[in-house]
Amino acid sequence: MNGRANTINVAVMGGEGIGPEVTAQGHRVLQWFADRRALPVTFTEAEYGKVPYLREGEVMPPATKAAIDAADAILFGATGGPETVEVPAEARRKDSLLAIRQRYKLFANLRPIFIDPVLHEASPLKARVLHGVDFIILRELNGGIYFGEPRGIETLPDGQRRGFNTETYTTSEIHRIARVAFELARGRRGKVCSVDKQNVLESSVLWREEVTKLHAAEFADVELTHMYVDNAAMQIVRAPSQFDVMVTGNIFGDILSDCAAMVAGSLGMLPSVSLGPVDANGRRKALYEPVHGSAPDIAGKGVANPLASILSVAMMLRLTFGRSEDAAMLERAVTAALASGARTADIVEPGGATVSTTAMGDAVLAALNTAEEAAR
Ligand code: IPM
Ligand code: MG
Repeated sequence: MNGRANTINVAVMGGEGIGPEVTAQGHRVLQWFADRRALPVTFTEAEYGKVPYLREGEVMPPATKAAIDAADAILFGATGGPETVEVPAEARRKDSLLAIRQRYKLFANLRPIFIDPVLHEASPLKARVLHGVDFIILRELNGGIYFGEPRGIETLPDGQRRGFNTETYTTSEIHRIARVAFELARGRRGKVCSVDKQNVLESSVLWREEVTKLHAAEFADVELTHMYVDNAAMQIVRAPSQFDVMVTGNIFGDILSDCAAMVAGSLGMLPSVSLGPVDANGRRKALYEPVHGSAPDIAGKGVANPLASILSVAMMLRLTFGRSEDAAMLERAVTAALASGARTADIVEPGGATVSTTAMGDAVLAALNTAEEAAR
């Protein structure tokens, strides 16, 4: 084995809208860890979206596919926006985020929900509700109604049209995601809340039965509760600190994670990762991305908040590189940057001064430098 065997390949894929500008800051931060903390990383730039489409006719051209195939981790920015009108729907669909999730079997989507106390004023919820909030929404990403068959739009004999989709989950799909939930909980506060709609849907009846079975068989040390999805939506805004790991299916997770994002004050703060299965080398492909989208209204202006991308890098340090200390160091640097007063427009208090995307990246790097000097 040579030294490079342990090198992690990271594909940097900024994508569209504000994606490239926020991802550039995440990339700078990762480069800092390579330079200063000997992080074993190699980078590949991967183009995605309208730019390669206009040149080569594909949203994900061959060079990008090759880079993503070879990558252990992908640092992704965002996709979509009004510019996509120039890309035909078919070309877009073929290489959409959904297609990427499916192609690389990225079935486990982790969306941590937390709020730095200095940002309490940025949340629409009251500070007293926000104390102690620290949970993860674990969303199943390869199944459910997003991919279920049959699906379609048909014309009925009476001339009406009928649109239909299928919510489906199998035993193995449920066990696969529930296992991730229980394992995550063991490294945290030991609590899993499984969210379903068992009072109405058969797919949820099965979901609850199988989560319960797996729990009894292998994870009895973890506390398991169940909650209906409508109640979960209410509890997230009523008392979000009750949750540790919330596990749920694809569409419920989509909806609940936007709801929970408001706990964090701004979508601009929330990182995420989508994990694939563990491969023969013990690695799992991982796509790290901000929860926010392409925000076309502010794209290219240099005002977007890069902290969701930077915090996605912290998740990457922890989960792909196994560097918990570096991850914690980066999270502390983000806190320090916020404490120093750096605010992008999405998290500023009324009348406050704002910094640019790059200046926020500078503030985080400055805090990292200070922390490293102090540690010497
Ligand atoms: C998300 C997004 C996607 C989803 C869209 C862009 C297809 O809303 O990642 O939450 O619905 O999964
Ligand atoms: Mg969503």
